[in-house]
Amino acid sequence: MSWIRKSTLSFLQLFAVKIIKCGRIPQHVAFIMDGNRRYARKNQVAGIQGHTEGFNKLAETLQWCLDLGIKEVTVYAFSIENFKRSQEEVDALIDLAREKFQRLLDESDKLMENGVRISIIGNVSLIPGDLRQLMAKAMLITKDNDKAFLNIAFAYTSRDEITETVKTIAEGVRDNAISTADIDEELFSKCLYTSRSPDPDLIIRTSGEIRFSDYLLWQISHSYVHFTNVLWPESSIWDLLIAVFHYQRSYAQLEKLKIHQKAIDQSCSLRAAAFTNKVENNRRKFLEQLAVSSS
Ligand code: FPP
Ligand code: MG
Repeated sequence: MSWIRKSTLSFLQLFAVKIIKCGRIPQHVAFIMDGNRRYARKNQVAGIQGHTEGFNKLAETLQWCLDLGIKEVTVYAFSIENFKRSQEEVDALIDLAREKFQRLLDESDKLMENGVRISIIGNVSLIPGDLRQLMAKAMLITKDNDKAFLNIAFAYTSRDEITETVKTIAEGVRDNAISTADIDEELFSKCLYTSRSPDPDLIIRTSGEIRFSDYLLWQISHSYVHFTNVLWPESSIWDLLIAVFHYQRSYAQLEKLKIHQKAIDQSCSLRAAAFTNKVENNRRKFLEQLAVSSS
């Protein structure tokens, strides 16, 4: 299945979308797409079929997000912890990602038409070279798009992201690019893999598991969290609309917390700004290297 689909909402669903759009729409939604293997077991199909159905649901969900006016989506596609699953499952998930990223490149004109920017967040050094190259190409082709943003967490955990960020900042201090006095929450945020994204407004986890599984732990301190029992491949637009409705009910309270947070934010020094620009440029150059080499 393609990443970009045509909208296929029924009259009733379109009506519900219209109603929900009268309220506040979250600009950034993060998903933990859980329950693929349980779905496979329930339907007596191979485990990888559950992940394939999971990808199909992702494509559908992206279209619903566009329909709703949600500008940015971040999905947990492969955790560093997932490398500990059976070799057969890891290989199958990596093969699925290869197939889907190749497809994404083949249909990149659709991404360009829709102005979608793709970002991979994660420790790319853990991803096989050929897949990393496909991902880097997708990121480079779409880097100037700004209508919608799709961030795919792959070989990602928050603890790894935070550890890598600490290393980046420590190197900055060692090289005298910044001093310890420049280190604050803003500088830290700008050195994370997610540096170019606003924090998620809403995080949704399917399958009834009530935990974050090391996902965006720094970024979700003021997000509305919605846990639902539905297995990811079985989720429908109604589940998304319910989550958005709950977010809308809590929006005023969440905004109050954010205003308080902004009040304690400090504006960063010129030196800190130059450092975070350099971190960003180094990442871009690394990406360009990855796009031309699979080793
Ligand atoms: C969690 O369900 C899901 C995953 C570990 C993989 C998610 C991947 C996809 C939906 C495909 C996305 C692919 C691309 C290329 C972006 P689980 O395996 O933990 O299922 P369980 O909780 O029922 O055991
Ligand atoms: Mg699971």
